[in-house]
Amino acid sequence: MLKKTAMIAILGVAFACACNGESEDGELVDGIFTEEEWAKIGELSPLEDPPPDPTNRYEDDPAAAAFGQKLFFETAYAGPLMIGDDGSNGGLGDAGETGKVSCASCHEGPWLIDLRSTPNNAALGAGWIPRNSASMINVAYYAPWIENNGLLDSLWSESIVDVEFDLGFNSSRLRLAHAIYDNHRDEYNAIFDPDLDPALDPLSAEAARFPADARPGSPEWEAMTVEDQDHVTEMMANVGKALAAYLKLLVSKNAPFDRYVAGESDAINEAAKRGLKLFVGKAGCVECHATPHFSDDDFHNNGLAAEGPNIVTDEKGRYDAIDFLLGNEFNSSGRWSDDPNTGRLDGVVKDDGLIGLWRTKGLRHIAETPPYMHTGQFQTLEEVVDFYNEGGHDAGFQGTKDDVIVPLNLSDAEKSDLVEFLSTLTGEEVSPDLLRNTLAP
Ligand code: HEC
Ligand code: HEC
Repeated sequence: MLKKTAMIAILGVAFACACNGESEDGELVDGIFTEEEWAKIGELSPLEDPPPDPTNRYEDDPAAAAFGQKLFFETAYAGPLMIGDDGSNGGLGDAGETGKVSCASCHEGPWLIDLRSTPNNAALGAGWIPRNSASMINVAYYAPWIENNGLLDSLWSESIVDVEFDLGFNSSRLRLAHAIYDNHRDEYNAIFDPDLDPALDPLSAEAARFPADARPGSPEWEAMTVEDQDHVTEMMANVGKALAAYLKLLVSKNAPFDRYVAGESDAINEAAKRGLKLFVGKAGCVECHATPHFSDDDFHNNGLAAEGPNIVTDEKGRYDAIDFLLGNEFNSSGRWSDDPNTGRLDGVVKDDGLIGLWRTKGLRHIAETPPYMHTGQFQTLEEVVDFYNEGGHDAGFQGTKDDVIVPLNLSDAEKSDLVEFLSTLTGEEVSPDLLRNTLAP
């Protein structure tokens, strides 16, 4: 605390000196921000390292991260496509084909977003996931709620949920186990304990213990011993932990905005400074986009009437997530968590007040990751700012709008200043080494 106060004081002096002459501005930081505004701005920068996740003991293991990077590109375990390429939807192959989906299918390019599904608002895997795909850069800052409705309470559990999700990989944990055994056994065994069971080898005399395709609920799964089931489920959790270790490295810092807050007065232009003043003031954005990753990690109703191709218009957001979250065998208090006592799920109950709430999205590199909202229904930041300027939609949204979502009465110049500010949040691109398909020869 002391450090931050001191920093603000020093910057205040530095900026006050930079704008000599205008005596009436003498009190204003950089000639534009009140002390109160500058204190709020100080809460938004710098971006430190992502928070620790004690439920994943491999999260800082470089070998696990290197393995996770390979797995990000692995398609071998993907189940049959339910919707094929129709020549215009960006589909991943013909309906019924297997081995076509990887994480990188929907998380591509320097910002790891969906660059393929057409139209680009929702994501096409084995089927249409009725959501816009998310950037993987800086995803490890969301804590603990992952996904737009907080369906998961750790990055590692998110990283495996798609395997058995029909619209994602439409696969099974036994398909995954065989793919890991066939393609990555040595690397897996070097990181995790116990080693994968040699009966996963299809040529093993005991191969029948591990069917080719089975998951909880299927007759093949129910026929397995509990020990063999647990062996496969633990493997699945470990795969999630390796993927999460990789995702934790995908960090982008040092945006022009950060350099500005650190004292470089001309790191952002005057329009962006005016936009920043609106962001922490009259436009009220900072009420929810409130931390260095620009999300308060909480759930709000911004009055969005969901619409668009392949979108489910009556999703209830946080409300719909609770049953799955509490019942998820991979949640933070479950047996596969490396710290079941984090208390993340304390007080989480399904309640009507959660209808229509979504997790506040982070806004780092926001200019690089259109379209916007969980529905991908806005193509530009101008459209997003118009939406907030009107106080959200008038009707058609679920639940009740947050009190702070009201018409803002911004002028056209103010709206463009706000967009200019949002464009200063793009930090350094992550190293190409971290984006490389390390599975490829
Ligand atoms: C078919 C497309 C698709 C595939 C394949 C896919 N994802 Fe995603 N991913 C999405 C979509 C869509 C979302 C947004 C879901 C939501 O939050 O509502 C998402 C969200 C996420 C998030 C949470 C982001 C956030 O803001 O909380 C993580 C982490 C993630 N994906 C990791 C992965 C990993 C790891 C894989 C591979 C095992 C993967 N994804 C495969 C489409 C995909
Ligand atoms: C009441 C809390 C709240 C306030 C105030 C708020 N937001 Fe949001 N914001 C959210 C939530 C929640 C989402 C995610 C909604 C969704 O995906 O459906 C979001 C999403 C966004 C997105 C889309 C991000 C993406 O990657 O899709 C942008 C951009 C954004 N807000 C900018 C702003 C700006 C600019 C302001 C001020 C004018 C603002 N927000 C005010 C809660 C808020």
